[in-house]
Amino acid sequence: MAPLCAVALLCILGVWQCVRATPASQMDYGGVPLWVNRFLGEPSVMSLKDRLDPHRYQANNPESCPHRCYCPIQWPTALYCDHSALTSVPSSPPEDTQYLFLQSNNITSLPSTVLAKAMDLRWLILDHNQLQGELLAGAALQNHIELRYLFANHNRLSAVPRGLPAGLRQLRLAHNQISSISAGTFQGLQNLTVLLLQGNRLQTIKPKGFTGLLNLDLLDLGENRFKSVPTYLPPSVQQLYLSGNNFSGLGESSFAGLERLKYLRLSRCGLQSAGVPPEAFNMSTLVELDLSYNRLATTPTVPTSLQYLYLEANEIQEFKLSSFCPGEGPLSYSRMRIIRMDGNKMSYSQLPLDWVYCLRVLQNIFV
Ligand SMILES: *[C@@H]1O[C@H](CO)[C@@H](O)[C@H](O)[C@H]1NC(C)=O
Ligand SMILES: *[C@@H]1O[C@H](CO)[C@@H](O)[C@H](O)[C@H]1NC(C)=O
Ligand SMILES: *[C@@H]1O[C@H](CO)[C@@H](O)[C@H](O)[C@H]1NC(C)=O
Ligand SMILES: *[C@@H]1O[C@H](CO)[C@@H](O)[C@H](O)[C@H]1NC(C)=O
Repeated sequence: MAPLCAVALLCILGVWQCVRATPASQMDYGGVPLWVNRFLGEPSVMSLKDRLDPHRYQANNPESCPHRCYCPIQWPTALYCDHSALTSVPSSPPEDTQYLFLQSNNITSLPSTVLAKAMDLRWLILDHNQLQGELLAGAALQNHIELRYLFANHNRLSAVPRGLPAGLRQLRLAHNQISSISAGTFQGLQNLTVLLLQGNRLQTIKPKGFTGLLNLDLLDLGENRFKSVPTYLPPSVQQLYLSGNNFSGLGESSFAGLERLKYLRLSRCGLQSAGVPPEAFNMSTLVELDLSYNRLATTPTVPTSLQYLYLEANEIQEFKLSSFCPGEGPLSYSRMRIIRMDGNKMSYSQLPLDWVYCLRVLQNIFV
């Protein structure tokens, strides 16, 4: 009986989703993990829907909890209205609401009045709704100075909301229909660190498109319609994701000016060796580079600072040691730890004999 008791206990604690699991794809918040700070009282980011008996979650004062929403006792400032077939935002969320979950509904707009009383709002999650056009008006949120996260992934927005509050830390707008970013859109958002725009229809970034993003760390522009690496990227960026765009090639200075860049993803970009000049990745800050699922025929030249290189599923026939160690001498060695080269046109026996002198700290190579 003991194991059964343990399972029951886990269910009561809500550790497992006991009744019916919510599809993971609907809970991915744009694909970048959401770390919860329990010390700040941040609530669970899992849906409460269909987990346990709702009465266990219901607030002490159920009258103040909007219809079809959950007001859990353990997170008194969180309001879970996700997966409820709502067509609009509940008209009067409790005034002390800080965490508002509205994902997977049929909400078409965010009227400026509806959140006017919930001025403590910290998170607003609107993923998987029907927000269209430019209907998500940033002005509706301008005075919400506590707002830190605004998520509206998987909607049909055609523009980035303007006039968002200056304290915003994360803006996630993946999988919408955004085709351009007008100048000054992000002006004043100097605390924004995460910006997700993958799965939109962007073709270029205009000169002042990203102006104002002084502390942006992660920028995902994957799966858009860029034909070359966009210029005018925020210089603070450390993680740049461009996978799934169809690039004709890279320039010698495609990433010039990105002096903090550490993690670069260029998977599935149609890149060929002729389109990747040796200078393209000459950045001494770079730690990880993903070039998987391209059409490279030889190993590209990478900086000696690089530690992780993903080249799987290319057409590589030649492993050039000079890609990793440009010069000779005791200090010219590569910091490479892991190289993935499976799914290429090479075998282990084709590795040059003297590779150990260059790849001195290599832990794994998959050929
Ligand atoms: C949205 O509405 C459509 C039809 O109006 C319905 O089929 C669909 O299940 C609804 N989606 C959600 C998430 O409630
Ligand atoms: C930005 O973050 C800093 C450090 O957390 C904070 O002191 C500052 O008030 C924030 N700015 C705004 C506009 O919220
Ligand atoms: C990428 O672009 C090239 C040239 O514009 C085109 O021939 C090719 O079909 C495109 N590939 C994809 C996957 O869109
Ligand atoms: C990379 O940059 C350094 C200095 O910025 C330069 O000395 C070196 O020649 C460059 N390497 C390549 C392959 O362009």
